[in-house]
Amino acid sequence: MFKLQHLNNLYFYSLGRHALSETFRIASLKRGERVLLPRLVCKDLLECLYEFGATPIYYDVTKINLRPILTQTLVSPSRLILSINYFGFAQELSQFHKYALKGPMSLIEDNAHGYLSKDEAGNYLGVRSDFGIFSPRKTLLMPNGAMLYVNSKGTDKGLSPDQPSSVSMKLEYRQRLKKLLRKSGRIGQFLLILALSIKSAIERYRIGSQQGSEGLSHLQTPSNPWSGLRESLQALNEEQESARRRGLYIDFELELKNLGYLSVFDKLPKGCVPYGFPFYADNNCLGLAVRAARAYGFDVMKWPDLPEAAGIPHSHFYRNIYLINFQI
Ligand SMILES: Cc1ncc(COP(=O)(O)O)c(C=O)c1O
Repeated sequence: MFKLQHLNNLYFYSLGRHALSETFRIASLKRGERVLLPRLVCKDLLECLYEFGATPIYYDVTKINLRPILTQTLVSPSRLILSINYFGFAQELSQFHKYALKGPMSLIEDNAHGYLSKDEAGNYLGVRSDFGIFSPRKTLLMPNGAMLYVNSKGTDKGLSPDQPSSVSMKLEYRQRLKKLLRKSGRIGQFLLILALSIKSAIERYRIGSQQGSEGLSHLQTPSNPWSGLRESLQALNEEQESARRRGLYIDFELELKNLGYLSVFDKLPKGCVPYGFPFYADNNCLGLAVRAARAYGFDVMKWPDLPEAAGIPHSHFYRNIYLINFQI
């Protein structure tokens, strides 16, 4: 069951980066305008900013729970602010509201890691701000798949209210075509299945395995999602998947603590559906964690691939974050 499908203004893409670029377009981000984002960020996101000629301004986050450290001087001149729900843990938005969100300033909730996750009040992550980015392709096994949620409050702020991207239009045409073919009896249905199979085979071939394509520029990849995205979100048992992830988190939290690793978060909050188990480690003492993860059939990955432009010192804790990835 795809519970978010009832949201108005939900649009589909292949990568979260496409959804972010689309946000910048809707927000009419202009050359030289400032976008405030965390220094703890994946460098691929910066490409979206550079595409619009915007200037990144960085804020830091705390070591435990990755909470934003903001000041009025940092926030005031920014046109857009990016808040990340790291690893599916709800970011505290109150910090941003305290300093910001006046006039044309807008908040983007980057929920690329937190598909299915909620905050403690039971609100889905990714729909709590002016814009929300989702990247279910990161947590579910699929060729690609991302979404953008545009809160109508966002467009009240004088942002361009036009229809996001051709992608959603294409989906609409495809659905109309599907309906037509379904109505036209057996031959129509056969043609529909054939067309969909050929299309997804071509898409899979063209896009390749984007699971590991973090380095690939989103500008070089099609922004359209694969044709099975909606169906595959619909087919997911969300409760079961959420429970699986929470159960794994609890197991690894205990196991890695006993092995001497420090968890990035001090607790698993109610409603949180984690991307994986994030922890701190030095590269040379990763072995025990890797072995523990492999016993469950999981990999350990380093996150993020930090942007060089953010000038992060060599010994900074941002460089020591690892994740046991729960994707199956
Ligand atoms: C926090 C965050 N947001 C957005 C993205 C971009 O998502 P995608 O890889 O689907 O473009 C990433 C990529 O790693 C990410 O870590």
